[in-house]
Amino acid sequence: MFDTHDLAVLIRSGAPLILIETQEEALLKEALRHVVAEVLRPLWRWKITDGLVRLDMDDLESPPCRDSAQVLEHMHRSEQRAIWLLLDFHPYLRYAMNVRRLREIALGQAAARHTVILAGGAFGELPPELAPLITRYEIKLPDDAAIAKVMREEAFNYSREHGGQRVEVDAEAARALVRHLRGLTLIDVRQIVRRLIHADGAITSKDLAMAQQAKFELLGKDAVLHFEPDAAQFDQVAGLGRLKAWIAQRRRVFVEGKAPKGLDPPKGVLLVGVQGAGKSLAAKATAGGFGVPLLRLDFGALYNKYHGETERNLRGALRTAEAMAPCVLWCDEIEKGLASSDSDGGTSQRVLGALLTWMAERKAPVFLVATANNIDRLPPEFLRKGRFDEVFFVDLPGEEARREVFRIHLARRELDVTAFDLDALVAASAGFSGAEIEQAIVSALYAAWNAHRGLLQADVVEALRGTRPLSVMMAELVARLRAWAAERCVPAD
Ligand SMILES: Nc1ncnc2c1ncn2[C@@H]1O[C@H](COP(=O)(O)OP(=O)(O)O)[C@@H](O)[C@H]1O
Ligand SMILES: [Mg+2]
Repeated sequence: MFDTHDLAVLIRSGAPLILIETQEEALLKEALRHVVAEVLRPLWRWKITDGLVRLDMDDLESPPCRDSAQVLEHMHRSEQRAIWLLLDFHPYLRYAMNVRRLREIALGQAAARHTVILAGGAFGELPPELAPLITRYEIKLPDDAAIAKVMREEAFNYSREHGGQRVEVDAEAARALVRHLRGLTLIDVRQIVRRLIHADGAITSKDLAMAQQAKFELLGKDAVLHFEPDAAQFDQVAGLGRLKAWIAQRRRVFVEGKAPKGLDPPKGVLLVGVQGAGKSLAAKATAGGFGVPLLRLDFGALYNKYHGETERNLRGALRTAEAMAPCVLWCDEIEKGLASSDSDGGTSQRVLGALLTWMAERKAPVFLVATANNIDRLPPEFLRKGRFDEVFFVDLPGEEARREVFRIHLARRELDVTAFDLDALVAASAGFSGAEIEQAIVSALYAAWNAHRGLLQADVVEALRGTRPLSVMMAELVARLRAWAAERCVPAD
């Protein structure tokens, strides 16, 4: 159950049209019963399959209102002030007659001052005549106390079903479990908890991995927001010393969710830079550095696949991210989702607006890391002071950083780093990105493997020589990027 008090307040305040985007109709119905007990008004529900049915009392004859126009007509004439829940009504908002009727009801021109609740999965665009009259109500996901309550209830149910056998609860594991189950609806929480308890009649630390798995599956349904299980660690990132220090300094304030007096809690950074220099890697490592989950917002998918539903999906994803807080929300190559062409009916502009507004207003500790390769497609709003805490420029690695890149990538392939002359490799890789160095090591390994021997210094040097790095092939582009960044960004290294 979600907190119904807000909804009761909203209804009492006289909001005539309330829109609730949800698939959880049972939950909504249950919640409305509570609301009705508080505000003491009749509650009617309409859906195309059942017509109009009264929910707060039984045995009342239902008026014959199958048709969407009929139900609005009935409502309009009804003299008893009531709450009308219309399920999946959005297809009927296309008719001028219905729009007009709803508008009249909302403007108080009907026989009584009703409350109309539009509930359903996907509303898309609202008719402009109605949009200003509608109040959106967002169902809040359960907080820690509500999750803990479900756990107690399910433990009690288990014990009752098993002849009084007590559920063994490890207090530490139970607390961690509550954290893991944040961001889910109560129905999902209950389902997972029940499964965990029924597996072995206990709640122990063993259950945490299972809970996370179940949660990823539920989150995974959302093609826009991806849980990234392997957040990188900063020791796997060469260079970028300034960025690492910046994150380290803010870790405590961020994770604890409250800033000391005079400081703003960290909100997010934008990483701009040369392709292959480690922006995506650094974004992942930010989650590792903070020690929080990493969620990736797929801006491309948001924008392409769900044309028309883009904003709704963005809102849903941001709400989930807030419920998972503290966490890092990663938008990779953000400029791609924000194509500033005029051909999309302004959707990408609105999405950008929604994202920026959310950034400015969000209260939950969600740290946004956005990356961008292409400065020409980066909307200027993004760079305005106060949007991101800092805009970092990720340049090609210098000598020290390249030495680190070699160390990291040779060690990762279980090669003995001391067997290589790093000075020579660093000299041979001037102008290379981290990604290009990694690629050179990989192709050198193939060469050695085909020659039936271990990797030699000469293989790596050879592979480096055979590569024309981007900084050479696109020297002008890189120079322009650097000049641009010099005026607007802080170097990440
Ligand atoms: N600074 C670095 N330190 C270690 N590895 C790096 C670095 N930069 C790039 N790499 C390697 O190259 C891969 C691709 O880099 P990536 O982070 O995708 O670059 P970008 O997002 O800037 O285009 C990384 O996954 C990593 O293996
Ligand atoms: Mg990248």
